Amino acid sequence: MRINNEIVYYMDVKKPVIVIGVCGSVAAVEDVKLIRELKRQNFDVNVVMSENAKNIVGKDAMEWASEHKVVDKISGSVEHVYFCGVNGIADMFLICPCTANTISKIACGIDDTPVTTFATTALGSKKKIVIVPAMHICMYNNPFVAENVEKLKKQGIKFIEKFEENKVKFPDIDEIVRVVKEEISKKEI
Ligand SMILES: Cc1cc2nc3c(=O)[nH]c(=O)nc-3n(C[C@H](O)[C@H](O)[C@H](O)COP(=O)(O)O)c2cc1C
Repeated sequence: MRINNEIVYYMDVKKPVIVIGVCGSVAAVEDVKLIRELKRQNFDVNVVMSENAKNIVGKDAMEWASEHKVVDKISGSVEHVYFCGVNGIADMFLICPCTANTISKIACGIDDTPVTTFATTALGSKKKIVIVPAMHICMYNNPFVAENVEKLKKQGIKFIEKFEENKVKFPDIDEIVRVVKEEISKKEI
């Protein structure tokens, strides 16, 4: 194709769409930097937050970082279907950070927060889901939470776990970005 009489290659400018589900862990404060880095790496990033997440990190900060309206309530626009339905625009649902509470709700098919509604929809649509758990190790080792983590892993959900100082800690941002790229590049089954 020619532009101003110079030959240029055709470029597909559509960026992969990542939806980040933010839960009520103190690690949510790391998401501003993560979102900015994902955008730098040419991903389009949208955010869905639980009420408890909003007690930890402000909706405005997420809106600023993602440059998109933040979903903190499922409305008549059925945002969960728009992003994570069968024909939804999301290429990945990245729940980061994910609480013990949200892990267990997803594993039991409960959806009573915007994040769990997105997860229920994404799982049913076979969307790629990546979970970054963050909590004290005693919570992660709770037998019911541990069982629910295994249930989700068996469904093909990828976990990024960093065990350190008796915690499942928020991993390095570069590591999250690396896994996101790796998972996105995998062929659909
Ligand atoms: C300051 C603060 C930090 C918290 N950090 C965590 C955490 O790192 N991991 C976790 O699983 N829960 C943590 N919690 C508890 C969750 O917020 C609580 O389980 C809540 O119900 C989670 O809701 P959500 O999963 O809908 O976001 C924290 C609570 C507070 C107030």
